[in-house]
Amino acid sequence: MTALELSSPVAVVGTGTMGQGIAQVALVAGHPVRLHDAVAGRARAAAEAIGARLDRLVEKGRLDAAERDAARARLKPADGLAELADCALVVEAVLERLDVKQQLFRELEEIVAEDCLLATNTSSLSVTAVGGALRHPGRFVGLHFFNPAPLLPLVEVVSGFATDVTSATRAYETARAWGKKPVACADTPGFIVNRIARPFYAEAFAVHEAQAADPATVDAVLRECGGFRMGAFELTDLIGQDVNESVTHSVWQSFFQDVRFTPSLAQRRLVESGRLGRKAGRGWYDYSDDAERPGPHTADKEPPPAHVVAEGGLGPAAGLLTLIREAGIQVREEDEVDGTRLVLPSGGRLVLADGRTSAESRDVVHFDLALDYRTATRIALSASENTSPQTLAEATGLFQALGKDVSVIGDVPGLIVARTVARIIDLAHDAAAKGVATEEDIDTAMRLGVNYPLGPFEWDRRLGRAFARAVLDAMHERDPSGRYAPSLALYRHAYAIDKREGTS
Ligand SMILES: NC(=O)c1ccc[n+]([C@@H]2O[C@H](COP(=O)([O-])OP(=O)(O)OC[C@H]3O[C@@H](n4cnc5c(N)ncnc54)[C@H](O)[C@@H]3O)[C@@H](O)[C@H]2O)c1
Repeated sequence: MTALELSSPVAVVGTGTMGQGIAQVALVAGHPVRLHDAVAGRARAAAEAIGARLDRLVEKGRLDAAERDAARARLKPADGLAELADCALVVEAVLERLDVKQQLFRELEEIVAEDCLLATNTSSLSVTAVGGALRHPGRFVGLHFFNPAPLLPLVEVVSGFATDVTSATRAYETARAWGKKPVACADTPGFIVNRIARPFYAEAFAVHEAQAADPATVDAVLRECGGFRMGAFELTDLIGQDVNESVTHSVWQSFFQDVRFTPSLAQRRLVESGRLGRKAGRGWYDYSDDAERPGPHTADKEPPPAHVVAEGGLGPAAGLLTLIREAGIQVREEDEVDGTRLVLPSGGRLVLADGRTSAESRDVVHFDLALDYRTATRIALSASENTSPQTLAEATGLFQALGKDVSVIGDVPGLIVARTVARIIDLAHDAAAKGVATEEDIDTAMRLGVNYPLGPFEWDRRLGRAFARAVLDAMHERDPSGRYAPSLALYRHAYAIDKREGTS
């Protein structure tokens, strides 16, 4: 099954933010495009707005003037649905309401040909439910574009229960022919990206709610240590707290209030008080002209320890040993011990975040997981009342000697990056095992849809398959609400490896 012919007209119904973007993509790809909106005059205004965007592309040298003129000539507003009768594909981007979308498709089915592909751009409704009103639901798919559609390459091609393989394939190939990167996905709450990304926000908010770190510190650690493009607080301010919360809420509700997706009380309060983010001038941060953006908490300078003893290797943090030696600090390695840690001159231990609190052991400092310890510019440390000031000072001085800023946060298990990445990996395994998408498509979706530095499966391979399960097991033991319970899929995955290594 191939992509739609470029000569086939494509219709976009609902010409707001997403409709305009999708129409521009289909138009620039070469299709004749019809625009329709329920509000009189909006389709015409959308055509003008798209034309103006094409002008800017010409000015920037990304489109030549002749192509722009041809594209403009192919773009037509339609006053009524009847004008869409000869379209080969209709993409709907109207109000996010099931009854409105179902009614629209019922009307469309009376007008278009039997082989016309019908698609919804819904981000939170079930594709199966939207298509449920159709007499021929086999030709109905989800085509979930991301905003801004002309710029972001990812499109989730969602198959509802009744979607034909041929229709899904045709939609997939058409998105590809439009220069997009489609991923195939089953109809589940949040599809791929909005499902697997939830912990990125939830864990940051949870660390803050636990009083362990303020937003600026969490954001800095996610960026400078975790390798994420933006921190969760600044990103949700950009997205809009109301928009981000409504996605979380909808995924949580759709999963019958599964505790793994529970929304954040702190975010609820922000929304209730109208602190919706940048668009409101205030969210987690203050965006008024005279407001000063708070910086992360950064520890004062401490002298580096003269030597450390590395016991049992450091697992995913093993690369640190080279960096420590390069910084002129003596490292003695001892393999035949139980567990992995760095022993400092004080006798205190520095342990990679493992899902336990620092308070549980005498004189322990935990350090966070970094995407890459060499390039990370900041590291989070957590200590407790059972940690001696000398041990915390030596741990701080050690990372500072490696050129890192140090943020000392409260004693939360899994610190900031480790808990976030472990949960993302877990949800990715859970989704793949339940047939939501392939591992490869999940990695692609998370890299392109939310700019993660690595896909969850790539991250998992890099960390070693036991890492996420161990962190979550320990966190689940400390918080048995179910929020951190590792999925069956993660257990199976880790067990298979343990068996191969002969350790179980
Ligand atoms: N905004 C995003 O970031 C984003 C991303 C992905 C998907 N989506 C989804 O795309 C859809 C549209 O979102 P948006 O942000 O573009 O909304 P929007 O409010 O900017 O535009 C919606 C448009 O649909 C029109 N409309 C409403 N009911 C209609 C009907 N029955 N027939 C024809 N037109 C109708 C409205 O007049 C409006 O112009 C929603 O389903 C949303 O969940 C949005």
